[in-house]
Amino acid sequence: MMKPVPRVSVVITVTSVFCLLVMFQFHISNLSEKNLQIIHQVNNFFISIASSSHYQTINLARFANESDGSRAKHPQEEDTCAGRYIYMHNIPSIFNDDIIKDCKTLIKWFTMCPFMVNSGLGPQVSESDNETSRVLTSKTGSWYATNQFLLAVIFREKMKHYECLTNDSSLASAFYVPYYAGFDVSRHLWGYNTTVRDELGIKLAKWLRERPEWRKMNGRDHFFVTGRIGGDFRRLADDDSDWGSKLMLLPEFANMTMLSIENTAWTNEFAVPYPTYFHPKSLYEVMRWQMKVKSVKRKYLFSFVGAPRPNMDGSIRGEIIKQCLASRGRCKFLDCNKSGQDCDNPVKVMEVFQSSVFCLQPRGDSYTRRSIFDSILAGCIPVFFHPGSGYNQYKWYFPKDYTKYSVYIPEKGMRNGTVSLRNFLSRIDWGSIIRMRKEVVEIIPKIIYSKPGLVGPEKIEDAFEIAVDRVIERLAMVKRMMEEGKDLQSEYSQTRDLTKLE
Ligand SMILES: *[C@@H]1O[C@H](CO)[C@@H](O)[C@H](O)[C@H]1NC(C)=O
Ligand SMILES: *[C@@H]1O[C@H](CO)[C@@H](O)[C@H](O)[C@H]1NC(C)=O
Ligand SMILES: *[C@@H]1O[C@H](CO)[C@@H](O)[C@H](O)[C@H]1NC(C)=O
Ligand SMILES: *[C@@H]1O[C@H](CO)[C@@H](O)[C@H](O)[C@H]1NC(C)=O
Ligand SMILES: *[C@@H]1O[C@H](CO)[C@@H](O)[C@H](O)[C@H]1NC(C)=O
Ligand SMILES: *[C@@H]1O[C@H](CO)[C@@H](O)[C@H](O)[C@H]1NC(C)=O
Ligand SMILES: *[C@@H]1O[C@H](CO)[C@@H](O)[C@H](O)[C@H]1NC(C)=O
Repeated sequence: MMKPVPRVSVVITVTSVFCLLVMFQFHISNLSEKNLQIIHQVNNFFISIASSSHYQTINLARFANESDGSRAKHPQEEDTCAGRYIYMHNIPSIFNDDIIKDCKTLIKWFTMCPFMVNSGLGPQVSESDNETSRVLTSKTGSWYATNQFLLAVIFREKMKHYECLTNDSSLASAFYVPYYAGFDVSRHLWGYNTTVRDELGIKLAKWLRERPEWRKMNGRDHFFVTGRIGGDFRRLADDDSDWGSKLMLLPEFANMTMLSIENTAWTNEFAVPYPTYFHPKSLYEVMRWQMKVKSVKRKYLFSFVGAPRPNMDGSIRGEIIKQCLASRGRCKFLDCNKSGQDCDNPVKVMEVFQSSVFCLQPRGDSYTRRSIFDSILAGCIPVFFHPGSGYNQYKWYFPKDYTKYSVYIPEKGMRNGTVSLRNFLSRIDWGSIIRMRKEVVEIIPKIIYSKPGLVGPEKIEDAFEIAVDRVIERLAMVKRMMEEGKDLQSEYSQTRDLTKLE
């Protein structure tokens, strides 16, 4: 059954209660930094409590091993990395650096070369001109023209700075394989046969299988990250006209866990956020940005940044654009077909999203889009039309109850012409809008990839940290299942329904 979309009824008493809440909220945010600093410390406190109690037995076992001089520590000195160590495989450069060296050929349609700089964050946005400093918070140096496919490069760079890296495989809870699988397949997606597309993945599978680290759990404790969608690695047949590689069908990779910007239905895949344009270097920058997007004036009720899909059966984008253009100024449409450049321009995109209350996120070539994360970053409430676009993807990141932070309009309602976006969205009461926006703004730190290498109080519990924590949790569970002799099918080779709204 579908859950109802957020209440649209306007009840005077409820609204006035919300007004009070809003005023209260305003007071709290005036206390600003100090307050948030405290919240951060409290959070850290809970995290350290949780990890210390959870891993106590592991700690004791390790401290008891006196024969290991390099690792021996004084019992009072707590190892904050216990249970969180990651081993990064030192794979030959043909599996990563060599692939992106030839940056002109990674995607057939355009060159990726400009985006490769700054460890994959892309070119820095100059914040000196007036328009830019109005749209972005100026003088941070933390905005970049980041390309949506660069996740694997950014993630690897962040992993190099991960505080709990180890070369001791007996200590490691997880094994990270820094393979650029997405760029490997994308450079061969157009005009290459399946042999070429699968070649490097097969080579890497063999390399991994022959490592001593593999034997520990047959690769069940291995994971990798890709900046393309999961569907690119699950080719159905060995037919050159079929899409993608068969990487995830190789027995070795089928034993691994894949993080990607969009998961397929398989249970060993998990979706992590697309990279956005903001890569802050301190908690303070994030809080400053959150405060800005909470209070910014939004002149459009809704907006759509995208292009139509005229050749795609059942696409609702045409209808969305039609309704947007007919909205008499209540909707802003940034046409990515016509003005190509603008849709890659962080200033233009962020300007539209921070001027809009709702941001439409219909699916395109696949279920998800990078735009979802740009709109959240701008404090714009996402409007989803398909459960596979967000709810069944970013479960590590979004609140469980989707009505708290988003609006859901079934595609069918757009297709059969019964939904007027303008009427529907303008009936959502102000209290609900404020509540949803507050929730959206709270998601911001979780979906950004902060600048690699932050430590201490400036460290942000960002998309990377959350991904690493969840992967370690998952692999600990898998290990338990193996020890108990349980079948791992439910965690690797089963499928779930991405089209179901739960
Ligand atoms: C102690 O270390 C030795 C050598 O590193 C290892 O073989 C042994 O299994 C360890 N014992 C425990 C209890 O971890
Ligand atoms: C930017 O703003 C300042 C002060 O408002 C103004 O003096 C300057 O001419 C502006 N520069 C541009 C390039 O518009
Ligand atoms: C692991 O070994 C590699 C290669 O010898 C070295 O570059 C790296 O710094 C080591 N990492 C850790 C965490 O010790
Ligand atoms: C696939 O393409 C490569 C290079 O383009 C070629 O050498 C190879 O023979 C082809 N394989 C098949 C099975 O067609
Ligand atoms: C995958 O894991 C299973 C055990 O869970 C093991 O039997 C199998 O050999 C592994 N496959 C590879 C290629 O290591
Ligand atoms: C996209 O732009 C091209 C060139 O400007 C134009 O020919 C085409 O009709 C546009 N497509 C759509 C669906 O608007
Ligand atoms: C159109 O779709 C909506 C949403 O699924 C549904 O509630 C409504 O009954 C449909 N109307 C018609 C005329 O098909």
